Amino acid sequence: MKSPFSYKVGVTMEDRIQTGGKTTRRSFLNILLTVILFIGIGGVIRTILLFLWPSKEIIQREAAGGPTSIPLNQIPVGGSKMIRYRGKPFVVVHTAAGIFAVSAVCTHLGCIVYWDKDKKVLVCPCHAAFFALNGSVISGPAPSPLPVAQVKIVGEQIILS
Ligand code: FES
Repeated sequence: MKSPFSYKVGVTMEDRIQTGGKTTRRSFLNILLTVILFIGIGGVIRTILLFLWPSKEIIQREAAGGPTSIPLNQIPVGGSKMIRYRGKPFVVVHTAAGIFAVSAVCTHLGCIVYWDKDKKVLVCPCHAAFFALNGSVISGPAPSPLPVAQVKIVGEQIILS
């Protein structure tokens, strides 16, 4: 039985010889799948590179401090989303009490905090600082509160300003 992992990518010279140099349906599908595979891999690599090194235009737009919007349906109640706001990571949290946008950069040594939906606090994984949604320090070594952004709901958009 042929292993499911024995699929060959592309058309080898051996394939061409066996078919007398003709392009068979199989070799055509191999070429097509190879092209699709490389397009998919290229798209993933491009997305990762843009995330790690955003274009100058994106950096300038974020640094300029213009409002940032997020579709409301992207953050269900109880959920959170990490975004870039004014060039810095922010965590946007949607609770039954409202929507909050808090800097995700810990004021202790700069680790990235995350929303713990069970404990309902922002947690720094490095030295266990805990923050409330208004940015205030609940406990831990953080010397000052996390900066917060103003949040408005306009239609179906969450607007940070
Ligand atoms: S970096 Fe966050 S508590 Fe130390």
